[in-house]
Amino acid sequence: MEQVYLNGEYKPLNEACVPVLDRGFLFGDGVYEVIPVYSGKPFRVEQHLDRLQHSLDAIRLRNPMTREQWIEVIDELIRRNTGDADAALYLQITRGVMEKRDHGFNDSLEPTVLLTCQPMNYPLQQSDTPGGCAITLEDSRWQDCHIKSINLLPNVLLRQQAVDAGADEAILIRDGRAIEGSASNLFIVKDEVIKTPPRQRCMLGGITRDLILELCNENHLLAREIDISEDELHDADEIWMTSSTREILPITTLNQHKVGKGLTGPVWAEVIRLYQDYKQQVMRGGDE
Ligand SMILES: Cc1ncc(COP(=O)(O)O)c(C=O)c1O
Repeated sequence: MEQVYLNGEYKPLNEACVPVLDRGFLFGDGVYEVIPVYSGKPFRVEQHLDRLQHSLDAIRLRNPMTREQWIEVIDELIRRNTGDADAALYLQITRGVMEKRDHGFNDSLEPTVLLTCQPMNYPLQQSDTPGGCAITLEDSRWQDCHIKSINLLPNVLLRQQAVDAGADEAILIRDGRAIEGSASNLFIVKDEVIKTPPRQRCMLGGITRDLILELCNENHLLAREIDISEDELHDADEIWMTSSTREILPITTLNQHKVGKGLTGPVWAEVIRLYQDYKQQVMRGGDE
């Protein structure tokens, strides 16, 4: 039975319960993180814990644990569940349990902390990965998508529209600009230049995105953080969607039309190789 960590205790998943007046359940009042685990090692854990702090600060929720405590619990939960295998680790922090229902909050509540560690359920991307499909949709989310909020209803509905259309992801359009996916960041390639939207309030600053930019920089691939118009998206030679669980997913069909030649592109092949090499180096104990 999978073990979870809930408010200071490790316990079997089927014994882990949260009270019905938890603000996460009633209001979606909380934040989360997803950390990929490769060969038993949490990947880019410092960057994920930095982003968690950013989300907590943005919703005015105090961090219930020190950095050392987070790392200790993460390592212990991996040890108890997936060991040396690959996994996806989820951290959920809500504002805690109210005595009576009220939208307003004060600092007296004890945050609820839940960590789970499950086997990775997406195949990792390799050079022979078949491309995926995407559709474009208007971004119906709120302005503050830089916060990794547990309030995911718009993302859920947008992703389901993509699923219903037989697609793997929805690319979200706001004011004529392509921002990101329903659960991923966006890259395009045009004339060998890699482009991704700049960090902004209405987009989540992805950890995978940042690593790709670092790898491009170190390997002298031309990558720009720049707005991408809807027209540029449709005219791209390559499109990629990036996230901790799906890595760098090449999109070869957009709105039922081929992207470029309709095959995974040469720039993607180069970048996924750099990404997988980097992971190997980290898993062998090299520096992140
Ligand atoms: C809306 C959104 N954008 C981007 C990402 C990618 O972020 P990361 O690379 O840190 O997984 C995610 C991941 O879940 C997401 O939900």
